[in-house]
Amino acid sequence: MAARSLGRGLGRLLGRLREGRAPRRAASGGSGSVPAAAPASYQALSAQAARDPAAFWGPLARDSLVWDAPYHTVCDCDLRGGRVGWFLGGQLNVSVNCLDQHVQKSPESIALIWERDEPGTEVRVTYRELLETTCRLANTLKRHGVRRGDRVAIYMPVSPLAVASMLACARIGAVHTVVFAGFSAESLAGRINDAKCKVVITFNQGLRGGRVVELKKVVDEAVKHCPTIQHVLVAHRTDSKVHMGDLDVPLEQEMAREDPVCTPESMGSEDMLFLLYTSGSTGTPKGLVHTQAGYLLYAALTHRLVFDYRPGDIFGCVADIGWITGHSYVVYGPLCNGATSVLFESTPVYPDAGRYWEMVQRLRISQFYGAPTAVRLLLKYGDSWVRKYDRSSLRTLGSVGEPINHEAWEWLHKVVGESRCTLVDTWWQTETGGICIAPRPSEEGAEILPGMAMRPFFGIIPVLMDEEGNVVEGCDVSGALCLSQAWPGMARTIYGDHQRFLDAYFRAYPGYYFTGDGALRTQGGYYQITGRMDDVINISGHRLGTAEIEDAMAAHPAVPETAVIGYPHDIKGEAAFAFIVLKDDAGDADVVMRELRATVASKIAKYAVPDQILVVKRLPKTRSGKVMRRLLKKIITGKAQDLGDTTTLEDPGVITEILSTYQKHRDKRAAAQ
Ligand code: PRX
Repeated sequence: MAARSLGRGLGRLLGRLREGRAPRRAASGGSGSVPAAAPASYQALSAQAARDPAAFWGPLARDSLVWDAPYHTVCDCDLRGGRVGWFLGGQLNVSVNCLDQHVQKSPESIALIWERDEPGTEVRVTYRELLETTCRLANTLKRHGVRRGDRVAIYMPVSPLAVASMLACARIGAVHTVVFAGFSAESLAGRINDAKCKVVITFNQGLRGGRVVELKKVVDEAVKHCPTIQHVLVAHRTDSKVHMGDLDVPLEQEMAREDPVCTPESMGSEDMLFLLYTSGSTGTPKGLVHTQAGYLLYAALTHRLVFDYRPGDIFGCVADIGWITGHSYVVYGPLCNGATSVLFESTPVYPDAGRYWEMVQRLRISQFYGAPTAVRLLLKYGDSWVRKYDRSSLRTLGSVGEPINHEAWEWLHKVVGESRCTLVDTWWQTETGGICIAPRPSEEGAEILPGMAMRPFFGIIPVLMDEEGNVVEGCDVSGALCLSQAWPGMARTIYGDHQRFLDAYFRAYPGYYFTGDGALRTQGGYYQITGRMDDVINISGHRLGTAEIEDAMAAHPAVPETAVIGYPHDIKGEAAFAFIVLKDDAGDADVVMRELRATVASKIAKYAVPDQILVVKRLPKTRSGKVMRRLLKKIITGKAQDLGDTTTLEDPGVITEILSTYQKHRDKRAAAQ
């Protein structure tokens, strides 16, 4: 089944990786474990991908993907100008690669296991069924006016229909934009309007952690403000009847009338596959554009090699499809490889803290890929919730989205993985399309250090920059993390605003892609991500610009000024701390704070609501009126004695004032706990 997707090219590459393998070791992870003993096959391949990207990626693409027409140029990239193009001239269809090729060989193999909210009620979907559903959905979209190049919003939790919706768009050449089904109506409307979507696909309701989520109501509210929306396709997750208005189309009913066959559109390699919105340090969320061939190849190859995916494995990535992790490692990567991919609808603590591991036992999951925030939460419940279940099927554990602290890494490795599984901390971004730095692939048995992404994937060339824009050489050094060579999975532009794309990623360090993260290069040349260098924070693995929270709060008439800062949080990794200034006639501050929390939830999402709000008389500003957030961060992280240069402050007295207000607030919170 995976023979075609593995491809001769990759087969050869892997063959060469294997040739240099040392004997298999029992434990392939753990601090101080086995150093690389094998000949430099990983290194040789890395060197080849760096030296001659076209020679490396060209044969891989040719042999690993199913093409309608071959490409004539492997890559045409110039990071100085932010120009990225791969496999030019090639024609293919992503849904054919993810479905038809497997249906031809093994129609009854399982594509998806939908792990529904209610434990023990999982649903298995074969490749044949998924292709049929995708085609019916594609035909429904066509009947409702969706054409090649049109944008379709998907506001659905993880489910086979959501996956089929993505693939149906791919089949007809439409561009999907999945919006995480926890976003508010206003956030959804913003994304629909930016992308000028014609259609939204949603469910009547969702179910998560035993609770009903009113998805259709959110969509109803959103589309009131979306003039481009012509239809809302409504599927049913629960029996509850929802109001159906003029725009609404009952999805399952329509699909039942459609042909289960749909001829795939032949797409150019560089045609858009999807848009995915993500936060930056300024402005509204940006719609990153991913294209067809390069993205698919990169997602599939990283899926195989980072997780050591093998045919017959059950791949369990518990991310939501609303994020890039869900796109690349729930849908496109695994399906292109003919894998069985788990769709996790629930939460890590429903009905109890054993949910993940009970699922691992029941579904015999081979790879488990999740976020550190859930690990930190679960380890507080104790080991018995893990040990209760058989985890012998697990081979690889993966972590993504935020730094994994030492305690969480050790727990995942020792308790969940019984010191037996390979644990990969994977660093990447919405922009990168797939994993860029991870401990695997590597030489067999090469050491894995806790809490470190470590090794660049083939074709990824990390470079650290100092503040003056000079490349920092050597080990035990840190700097701004840039990538110096284009790779097939990277985003091509920001939808509707290429200049913003250039400014955000290619202006700070000309000739390099700037990630926004800082990193440390350790002895051995390994990379450790030290966190964002801009005003982006990461709450429970969800990326958010502090400016977005400030903008949402600015809508409150009693709050003329705010400054939002990220600070370390035990479970969430980071949480938001909001400093606010109130107008003289603002009234009861507690009421205003309650309203502010509600405003942020309704304008963005619940997870964006600041954990702490502190009223101050004024904010620390420079003479030119810029808020010095750096100083606020020092105050709330206990580093007020080391404020650095404060000479640009308009009035240095503001610091003592805020510090004393903050200390009172901190003491009050401590007393209340
Ligand atoms: O700061 C890095 C952090 O998450 C950011 C990307 O967020 P997003 O585009 O939402 O994609 C998340 C899933 C790929 C990065 O700029 N990040 C991601 N993975 C790691 C990480 N930080 C530390 N370690 C990681 N493994």
